Amino acid sequence: MCGIVGYIGPRQAHEVVIKGLERLEYRGYDSAGIALINNGLNVYKKKGKVSDLKEHLNGRELDSRIGIGHTRWATHGEPNDENAHPHYSQSRNLAIIHNGIIENYSSLKQELLNKGHSFLSETDSEVLIHFIEDIRDNNDCSLEEAVRLALTKVVGAYAIVIMDGSNDNQIIAARKGSPLVIGVGKDEFFLASDATPIVEYTNEVVYLNDLEIAIIENNELKIKNTQDIPTTPYIHTLDMELEAIEKGGYEHFMLKEIFEQPRSIGDCMRGRLDANKGRLVLGGIREYANKLTNADRIIIVACGTSWHAGLVAEYFFEEFCRIPVEVEYASEFRYRNPVINEGDVVICISQSGETADTLAAIELAKSKGAIIFGVCNVVGSSIARATHEGAYTHAGPEIGVASTKAFTAQLTVLNMIALQVAHSRGTITESRYHELLVELENIPSKVEKALELDDKIREISALFKDARNFLYLGRGFNFPVALEGALKLKEISYIHAEGYPAAEMKHGPIALIDEEMPVVFIATRDSSYDKVVSNIQEVKARKGKVIAIVTEGDALIPEMAEFVIEVPRTDEAMMPLVSVIPLQLLSYHIAVMRGCNVDQPRNLAKSVTVE
Ligand code: G6P
Repeated sequence: MCGIVGYIGPRQAHEVVIKGLERLEYRGYDSAGIALINNGLNVYKKKGKVSDLKEHLNGRELDSRIGIGHTRWATHGEPNDENAHPHYSQSRNLAIIHNGIIENYSSLKQELLNKGHSFLSETDSEVLIHFIEDIRDNNDCSLEEAVRLALTKVVGAYAIVIMDGSNDNQIIAARKGSPLVIGVGKDEFFLASDATPIVEYTNEVVYLNDLEIAIIENNELKIKNTQDIPTTPYIHTLDMELEAIEKGGYEHFMLKEIFEQPRSIGDCMRGRLDANKGRLVLGGIREYANKLTNADRIIIVACGTSWHAGLVAEYFFEEFCRIPVEVEYASEFRYRNPVINEGDVVICISQSGETADTLAAIELAKSKGAIIFGVCNVVGSSIARATHEGAYTHAGPEIGVASTKAFTAQLTVLNMIALQVAHSRGTITESRYHELLVELENIPSKVEKALELDDKIREISALFKDARNFLYLGRGFNFPVALEGALKLKEISYIHAEGYPAAEMKHGPIALIDEEMPVVFIATRDSSYDKVVSNIQEVKARKGKVIAIVTEGDALIPEMAEFVIEVPRTDEAMMPLVSVIPLQLLSYHIAVMRGCNVDQPRNLAKSVTVE
């Protein structure tokens, strides 16, 4: 949510910063802006996308070796030019970019207004830079000291980068709760919300920790905490290829990511699973593995698509491990006073590893003494670092706002964790365990086959692109898939869609069904197949249009459904990994046909770093 970029070094700063903003645009695209030092501090900003900013910059003199830039997802103040970042201080000598929320900004603003400050925007971020300048002027201290003092008085979350127009040798950055990565090049430094703008220049990065301030000055990086105590920066080596963050010939990132799934699911299992040898090892879960194996209860906490992965995992863990599971929305969990007992463990699922609610839920669970396991995609992310142990999904960068490959990678990891726990607990027979390992290993080739349905799904999409509502129904392992299918459609095509357990339809949604209503059934061969067939008949009796995802060779459902999409056969526990593929493609094609911006759907952001 909001992307920030900074650069200091020998290159043209505006080129690095603009390119970086394009890479981070998935985090927000309400407005974009850049600050440079050339004949003083200059801020250029524009409502809209980075492309609008580029147009605005056309023909200007932008020569500068230092710059900061921002792409915004609006929290305080509507998206317009004034509210776009960077923001000037009162004297216009300082500029700030900020990702996060300053919760006590209105009292700080009032104080500053009383002192005669005037504000150009409605943002909390502008207040912060005025506040920092005010401290600097009143205490006659350095900018570094003013930033430090200000941050001790600020309540909220932030990743900030600040430039001083009278010192083009210095950039100051700080974080609390919002991510900030510093790329360390030769005689140059890059700052960004995640590593994607940095990877093409250097693979050496420092992840700033909460309450740390980075001072980059005279080609040197110093890190201190808000108590002014220096810390030694730990340089990580990035394991990310440039191709992974480019479209690679696809029209959209989302389509690329959908088609990457055979590979990303395979990558997720690589080195961990060898069905032939009956081997399943998750290197990231060692010290606390017993805690998980002997858990009395598992609490899964997540948001959005990751929450849907958690719902599927509930079925895995209960079925195979016989451990009771609760799946919680992080935003609800964090504001309850949840009961966490000695034998409970918490699993947090997050693609970005930065979702503010999930992070806060972790802190709450930790304060109650829980051991937390993370399932994250972004290596080194805040959630990955805040959890005790965990397993990365290794799906590679996911840029499309609608999550696809991260979801299937999450299911793969959660499946592996559940199988490992079930095996250690002895709640699964050896033969069933081996059977499931083999099934899991075969999933990439089945997903590959499901992707061959693309043309057929495009044809079906053309027929339903103007629908106003959609219903998605499934049972058992496929119920969360119905939720996920509906979410994908809503997110990118703006068609109202609801996912429901198929039997619950009778308690409400059935009233919506008429000849206008497309109903997508995930009706693969599993233990609830017969029941789902009855539910299809109930919809048919009310003239609903049925699109059914079935197992290949199904002879019964094609007799009833208008449209049938056949996916390869697999174990019912693994089916969500396959049955979700046609739903991803359906939402993608419908959105494209409706002329929607698939990778940057309105109002959404990929990484929700505010609560
Ligand atoms: C946003 C994204 C979703 C994602 C959710 C949770 O809403 O648009 O795609 O599922 O956040 O994000 P996380 O990074 O924690 O999985």
